Amino acid sequence: MTAEVLRALDADLAQQDEVQLTPDAYKEVFRRHPAGVAVVTLRDEDDRLVGFTATSVISVSAAPPLLAFSLASTSSSWGAVSAARTLAISFLSGAQDDVSARFATSGIDRFAAGGWTALPSGEPVIDGAVSWVRGRVVQRTPVGGSYLVSVRALEHGTTDTVTPLVYHDRTYHRIGDSTAI
Ligand SMILES: Cc1cc2nc3c(=O)[nH]c(=O)nc-3n(C[C@H](O)[C@H](O)[C@H](O)COP(=O)(O)O)c2cc1C
Repeated sequence: MTAEVLRALDADLAQQDEVQLTPDAYKEVFRRHPAGVAVVTLRDEDDRLVGFTATSVISVSAAPPLLAFSLASTSSSWGAVSAARTLAISFLSGAQDDVSARFATSGIDRFAAGGWTALPSGEPVIDGAVSWVRGRVVQRTPVGGSYLVSVRALEHGTTDTVTPLVYHDRTYHRIGDSTAI
């Protein structure tokens, strides 16, 4: 992203005089929007494991294979993510609401309970996840009080026997058998 585009973005974000959603109104919209649940994991420069729950993971493009997530700049994980060359993203299965809750709990060792395996390259991935991606961080874009972190996918693993965990209306859900059509 060029400096010019970033300056325009900053100028737009600084514009507080136009009518905009309150945080409550914003949440009223997004609680109605279902999201898959992922855990982002990495190993920091001092070999410490870092990880957090994220519903903000999006697919950006298949070619090149890019995905992104947003991370609050106030997060305890930001220091490690700001310096990371690579990280892993595990997409949780329907039975892993406890894992999601653990990786969103402040002030605990989120890895102490186990349930993860280190890849040969060092990043931990969550055991039993429906899929995972290991990727290289290609961009950290400041947007408001968060960073949009873009990642080029290098490696992956998938299983096709498990259904994903879905976060909707502040509650965890599993996908059942009923389809829309
Ligand atoms: C379902 C769920 C989804 C979340 N998604 C995000 C996210 O996309 N980005 C983010 O910065 N934090 C997200 N969080 C919050 C973080 O997982 C974590 O709880 C927060 O960063 C507090 O951790 P800290 O006290 O170690 O900073 C989510 C939490 C939950 C429960």
